[in-house]
Amino acid sequence: MAHFHALIPAAGSGLRAGEAMPKQYRPLNGKPMLWHAIQPFARHPGIHRIHVVLNPGDARFDEVDWAGLESRIEVLRCGGDSRAQSVLNGLRAIAGCAPNDMVLVHDAARPCLTAGDIDRLIAEVGEDEAGGLLAEPLADTLKRADAHGRILKTEPREHLWRAQTPQMFRHSVLLRALTADDTLEGITDEASAVERLGLHPRLVRCAATNLKVTYPEDFRLAETILASRAQ
Ligand code: CTP
Ligand code: MG
Repeated sequence: MAHFHALIPAAGSGLRAGEAMPKQYRPLNGKPMLWHAIQPFARHPGIHRIHVVLNPGDARFDEVDWAGLESRIEVLRCGGDSRAQSVLNGLRAIAGCAPNDMVLVHDAARPCLTAGDIDRLIAEVGEDEAGGLLAEPLADTLKRADAHGRILKTEPREHLWRAQTPQMFRHSVLLRALTADDTLEGITDEASAVERLGLHPRLVRCAATNLKVTYPEDFRLAETILASRAQ
């Protein structure tokens, strides 16, 4: 039977977040964001190993207190110059992962994932050849703007989803998808690479609380969500 591995790209510099340190190390309620992103996988009995892709020059990971989570964490110091390149380098560097194993790729910048979200992704996608991802159906009305910030038209929102992570694929399929083309340009998530193979990954509904911390104001929202669960 296939194992389920987590692969966490954490080699970014977090420019848009405007912090002095890369955002994945910014504390949220006392623990670095990366700790929160790893925690639901480290505590999940269905996850075999957690592979964390770091910038080769990263000096912060080893400073973090990983007590209680460390037993299944593997560090890969092979981050690239884009998210997709970091994921590809990580896939190539993973030890002990069979071609048939499933890999759940999860942003270090999504600290509010729950064990229940992981359960649903694994239950609904399983070992599907095309894989699948957590996503949220669009709730807002969509407006297309002109160059002056005025509405050109209202776009239909039927069948539109916002892609989140984790995104889960067979190791061999994701590796093939990320190497199928000469360039990784325009590949902003794993599903878009797999779509290039002509496959149709499954969308698994997830809550809006699985937010990605991108801008300065997002840290407080993530802290509020995490604090509400701690009670
Ligand atoms: N990431 C990575 N390697 C890169 C760029 C990004 O591993 N070369 C990771 C980030 O660490 C993050 C995830 O990919 O966990 C999502 O990327 P994003 O939110 O864009 O983070 P950053 O690239 O760090 O932020 P920014 O784009 O604002 O600089
Ligand atoms: Mg980025």
